[in-house]
Order: sequence, then structure tokens, then C-alpha cells
Amino acid sequence: MPIEKATPETIATAARYIQQGGLVAFPTETVYGLGADATNDLAVAAIFSAKGRPTFNPLIAHVPNVMVAERYAVMDDRAKKLAATFWPGPLTLVLPRRPGCLISLLVTAGLDTVALRCPAHPVALALISEARRPIAAPSANRSGHVSPTTAQHVDADLGDALSLILDGGPTEIGLESTVLDASGPVLTILRPGAVSAKDITEVTGEAVARAVPIADEADRPNAPGQLASHYAPRARMRLNAVGAEPGEGLLAFGPVTPDTTGPVEQLSAKRSLMEAAANLFAALRRLDETGVATIAAMPIPMDAGLGEAINDRLTRAAAPR
Ligand code: TXA
Ligand code: MG
Repeated sequence: MPIEKATPETIATAARYIQQGGLVAFPTETVYGLGADATNDLAVAAIFSAKGRPTFNPLIAHVPNVMVAERYAVMDDRAKKLAATFWPGPLTLVLPRRPGCLISLLVTAGLDTVALRCPAHPVALALISEARRPIAAPSANRSGHVSPTTAQHVDADLGDALSLILDGGPTEIGLESTVLDASGPVLTILRPGAVSAKDITEVTGEAVARAVPIADEADRPNAPGQLASHYAPRARMRLNAVGAEPGEGLLAFGPVTPDTTGPVEQLSAKRSLMEAAANLFAALRRLDETGVATIAAMPIPMDAGLGEAINDRLTRAAAPR
């Protein structure tokens, strides 16, 4: 389907598609999103069917600012402080749905909470503003697949289902946003991302809990999106590998042992977590394309924020499916 370079004109066209109930893929600073009008049930249903996503897994609604967020969610002082600090940016807040909230119940999968994020990417912000409605947008990949960090990744996974793919080049962060449940008394990270627990504690003065991934989503319908297996390439994953065995592809982080023979994708030769996060999903896709049966991943340090987030994605990619 049409990949168009993001310009004021193509963004205006995309906003019209959204208003008419269509699906548009667009860049954010984290990954590409598969967007639809969050207040239009039919349009939101089309997201689920394009992704092949279980309908009990709710979506993030993207908003242009805190003021608009407050139309849809109840924001206490703590939530406002978090939004004021980290928006626009890679933090999604799970908040109580405001009574009369116009966001489709399909977006929130019938929960009494809503996940809101104000993305930092100028193309995403322009699109949300021009569409004049919140945009529901999961990552623009088929459900369970690796998230897309380029317009070409989106096209490969979902091209046929989309009205338009806005191309804003490779995404800067490369990993999905931190999802923070701020709807209850204890702040809980549901998905680690670039904004770390420490960053959140620094702003709120509160300790932050971490939800544990589960094997079967149906076991915990109130905490969706915690599936142990997710973000999966086709190949099997072997974690904490020193190097690749014959027949394996290597996902490298730093210097590679000289006897390596198979395909290698270097996440960051200088061992930068920022660089590794930005390269991760594209590297997994390229290794998959070589046809190797197993991807051996070198260890990544568990540093707060991106280190933790990269390890989270690798662990899920390696989980039994
Ligand atoms: O970086 C990102 O967040 C990207 C870009 C496009 O913004 N979006 C993204 O969306 O990753 P998605 O749908 O792939 O992931 C949304 C996550 C899922 O794990 C989902 O279960 C969780 O947020 N989520 C959404 N609403 C929720 C809610 N009400 N309660 C708990 N978790 C929720
Ligand atoms: Mg996703």
C-alpha cells in the first residue's frame, strides 16, 4: 500500500482518512503506530482485525496534550505531574476512564481504565492535531510480531489493510513506550521502556512496582499485554550467548568472537544501549530473513530504562510459544 513521505499535505490526507474511519500508519519516536479514530468503534475494530489481535488486549489512545487527556481520563496530581514531566514522550499512563469518556469501549477492551500517551514525534503530533480526535494506535505489526521501526516494516506486515503509511524515517527510540499503571494506589510498570522506574520515582517520590509477565493472558484479564511470549521473530531465540554456534545467527552487542561464521547483526559495537534499542527490532527482522533456525543474542546489561526494556523484549521473544 502507499508509503508516502510525511509532509504537511500527506499528513492532512492521513488526518482525513482517520476522520473517515480509515487506518493510517504513522511514525512515533518509539515505533510506528497503526492509527484509527479512537472514538469510532468500527475504525477501532478494523485495527484489531488488521493486526489479528485478541480483542481483550486494549489499545493506547494518543492525545495532543494533557488538557485533552483530561477529557478522557481522571488525572490526579500525581498523573498530572508525570504527564507534565514526560509528555510529549515515551510514557503511557493507564488512568481511570472519565465518566462519559467518548473513547470507544473497544479501545479499552471493556476495562474501566484507559491508556493515554502524547507522542513526541512531530508527524504524530501533527496528525493527532489535524484529525482533531484521539488516535488509537497499537504498534503497526501483526499481533505477536516484532514492532516496526520503519515504514517498510509496516508495509511488509500490514500493507494491504492500510489507507496510507506515513514515512518519517527510522524511529528514534526503537522500543515501545513505558506503560505505567497510575490508576491505583501503587504505581506499576506494565511494560518497561525508555522512561525508567527511577525516572518515575524521581518525579513522584513514590516507589514503583513491576508487573510480572504471565504465560496466558486469559489468566489475568485485568492486566492485559503482559503475555510472556510477544515481540517474537520466526526463529527461536537463545539468550545470553557468548557467540553463535554453527547455523545460528548472532545478535551482537559489542565485540564479536573471531570464530563467528553465520550472519551477524550488531546492535551496538560501542555497547550503547540507545543505539541498541534503536536497532533491535530491525536487526531481529534481518536475522529472520536469513532463514537461520536460531538467533543467539549476546547479553545486554540490565541498566534501568533501556537496558531493562531491551531485556524484556528479548525474554519475551525467547519465551515458549
Ligand atoms: O510506543 C508505543 O506505546 C506504541 C506507539 C505506537 O505509541 N504503541 C504500542 O501500543 O506499543 P500497543 O497496543 O502495541 O501496546 C499497548 C500496551 C499493551 O501492552 C496493552 O495491553 C497495554 O498497553 N494497555 C493498553 N490499555 C491498557 C489498560 N487500560 N490497562 C492495562 N494495560 C493497557
Ligand atoms: Mg505491540
